[in-house]
Amino acid sequence: MGRLEGKSAIVTGAAQGMGASHARRLVEEGARVVLTDLQADRGEALAKELGDDARFVEQNVTREADWDRVIDAAVAHGGRLDVLVNNAAIHWVRSVQKDSADDLRRMLDVNVVGVFLGVQRAIAPMRAAGGGSIVNVSSIAGTRGIPGHGAYGASKWAVRGFTKTAAIELGVHGIRVNSIHPGAIEGTGMFSAPEDDAQRDTEYQAIALRRAGGVREVSELIVFLASDASSYITGAEHIVDGGRSIW
Ligand SMILES: NC(=O)c1ccc[n+]([C@@H]2O[C@H](COP(=O)([O-])OP(=O)(O)OC[C@H]3O[C@@H](n4cnc5c(N)ncnc54)[C@H](O)[C@@H]3O)[C@@H](O)[C@H]2O)c1
Repeated sequence: MGRLEGKSAIVTGAAQGMGASHARRLVEEGARVVLTDLQADRGEALAKELGDDARFVEQNVTREADWDRVIDAAVAHGGRLDVLVNNAAIHWVRSVQKDSADDLRRMLDVNVVGVFLGVQRAIAPMRAAGGGSIVNVSSIAGTRGIPGHGAYGASKWAVRGFTKTAAIELGVHGIRVNSIHPGAIEGTGMFSAPEDDAQRDTEYQAIALRRAGGVREVSELIVFLASDASSYITGAEHIVDGGRSIW
């Protein structure tokens, strides 16, 4: 029996990268999952491949009306809502001197407002289910400064901070809210592969395990936080970076 048997989940940004892997692992563990993304063709194809327990709903996480449709779809598909993985995000690497205020607003709209709306919209159905687990995807860029990550870092620090207040307020309803902080993860849209062996050696020197992570290594953390095995864990920061941020 899977670790998520009987649970109903939503994963945003699930058409590719880590979101696709999270959706796959949740289904493998027995959950019924609504995958959402802007990319309808890729999302539909993945949901079809995952079978009857998966369903795709096109969504822009910045739009309130889209969230209402997604929540309705998840409750219809799974009969309830137990798990929300706020994974969708955008990313670019650009100097603080080059980003405009409009660039920053666009980053915050997707990466922060999108998470905020998801948490707000999940409260009623999770309360109706007797509790739930929300996982907000931040980054190690939400725990430290990284060159070129001014706008992105601001958004991911905001996700980390918002998670803590949400955890405090929603704990009384049995709703747990945690943030995860991946390092460099291969097989994703946001990963820039080293261009040659010399660059790889230099970059991976800063990672204790001397390699990038794989998407499934992050999905295992998502499965744990979604499951009842993490029933006493809330408001916490879960770093999955091979030791990149130890120093
Ligand atoms: N890849 C990494 O190395 C890394 C490291 C740390 C944190 N993260 C975080 O992990 C999460 C997943 O990263 P990834 O690299 O797998 O992402 P990705 O770029 O591969 O996929 C992101 C998905 O989100 C979707 N998306 C973007 N804007 C959207 C919107 N407004 N509404 C709905 N969907 C939208 C995209 O269409 C895409 O399918 C993100 O939150 C990211 O910030 C990634």
